[in-house]
Amino acid sequence: MESKEYPGKLTPFVVLTCLVAATGGLIVGYDIGISGGVTSMDPFLMKFFPSVYRKEKQNQSSNQYCTFDSQILTTFTSSLYLAALVASFFASSVTRIFGRRWSMLAGGVSFLVGAALNGAAQDVFMLIFGRILLGIGVGFIGQSVPLYLSEMAPAKLRGMLNITCQLMITIGIFSANLINYGVSKIEAGWGWRLSLALAAVPATIITIGSLFLPDTPNSLIERGHDEKAKEILRKIRGTDDILEEYSDLVAAGKVSKKTRHPWINIVKRKYRPHLTMAILIPFFQQLTGINVIMFYAPVLFKTLGFGSNTSLMSAVIIGLVNVCATFVSIGTVDRLGRRLLFLQGGFQMLACQIILGTLIAIKFGTTGEGTIPKTYAAFMVLFICIYVAGFAWSWGPLGGTLVPSEIFPLEIRSAGQSINVSVNMLFTFVVAQTFLPMLCHFKFGLFYFFAGWVIVMTIFIALFLPETKNVPIEKMILVWKAHWFWNKFIPDKNEHVSTKVMAMI
Ligand code: BGC
Repeated sequence: MESKEYPGKLTPFVVLTCLVAATGGLIVGYDIGISGGVTSMDPFLMKFFPSVYRKEKQNQSSNQYCTFDSQILTTFTSSLYLAALVASFFASSVTRIFGRRWSMLAGGVSFLVGAALNGAAQDVFMLIFGRILLGIGVGFIGQSVPLYLSEMAPAKLRGMLNITCQLMITIGIFSANLINYGVSKIEAGWGWRLSLALAAVPATIITIGSLFLPDTPNSLIERGHDEKAKEILRKIRGTDDILEEYSDLVAAGKVSKKTRHPWINIVKRKYRPHLTMAILIPFFQQLTGINVIMFYAPVLFKTLGFGSNTSLMSAVIIGLVNVCATFVSIGTVDRLGRRLLFLQGGFQMLACQIILGTLIAIKFGTTGEGTIPKTYAAFMVLFICIYVAGFAWSWGPLGGTLVPSEIFPLEIRSAGQSINVSVNMLFTFVVAQTFLPMLCHFKFGLFYFFAGWVIVMTIFIALFLPETKNVPIEKMILVWKAHWFWNKFIPDKNEHVSTKVMAMI
């Protein structure tokens, strides 16, 4: 459905503020990309996890599916996601009560301290403590940045501006892949320190950036700063003709101020569509299996018989595909819409997963024994790249930040976004934790397992996700009201919208 447009244009000011805020995505991505590489570096393992190191060296098993399986290491990697999960709930209150930028600042500072502790780590305690601080940073940033972007952007370019955050995530992952590749060549063995400490660079950018960012008009109104909100709205829309948008924001702000307990509110029947999406979208996003590739690409390639160097290099190539394909989404999402990208990306991922599972089945069968010739392996990398591209213009940006940050009404937006972040973190954790044992048991069938989920999520989108392109964020209620299934949950009398508008739909 199309909705009315407010006056205004895309101003350099709004582009700049969105770009600065989106750099928060760098810290999220840097972390996703860095840990897999670091935990495969021998000097790191020898210092912190000597038993894992010894076990890996002694492992003579010829079953390729079960070569790498160390629970302590995966627990170290995933401690960050558990910390982020918890932190995003605290971030929800900070974002709502004090404004979006304070959460960004808190996230940046926590990440900065975590990076310093990790880079200087002398023992496992420092390492894990640092990692928890990084997780807190990720929780705060992941909760606040997408909301900030969706609120600042003019409706017809919201997709594009919001996806800059996912773009930064992919750039973060890619930089981490490159840095891991570079430092693995440092013979003295302290390369891992550099990898971990360099997380301070993106953290500094968002920390300093957030000190200069204005808060969003929506949040200013929600907190009673109406005049300031008007001033910012004029500035970001580049026009004095803001009255219509301003009135809608004030209406949304009124409802929000009445809502004392967003957490109790969000379980009410009228928010059932929102709650369903807040839980299922991030859940499905992780069950695409993307992080199997993001975390374990080097390990996976080693399994396929690539050398250490080639494995890290292949991870770099995949990282680059991830960045480039995100631009496709940026360029098309506000024209083609969210649904089309979700559906197309789903089909592309599905086809690749089936092909990959079959290619592995042919070579390794159920015993896991065998080797893969070079050209065969190159084919597999190609299909992994096509799979990653499909994700990067669909479920990556749309499921990660865009759709969950644009569908909630103001009064539950902050709470809804924390649910989205925590479900994302929980299943990132679950996938990271279970992938290696699952590979050992499901074998090539693991690819079919994720393919099965992609079928389920694609059907879900086709049936249940309404199109949200170009709809002003405080008018989203109309989209649910017009949906064949969700309309029965939305009351006829709605405080967000005048009775006249409701009668029109
Ligand atoms: C997901 C991450 C994933 C990344 C890959 C994000 O949207 O939430 O889990 O690693 O995309 O680019």
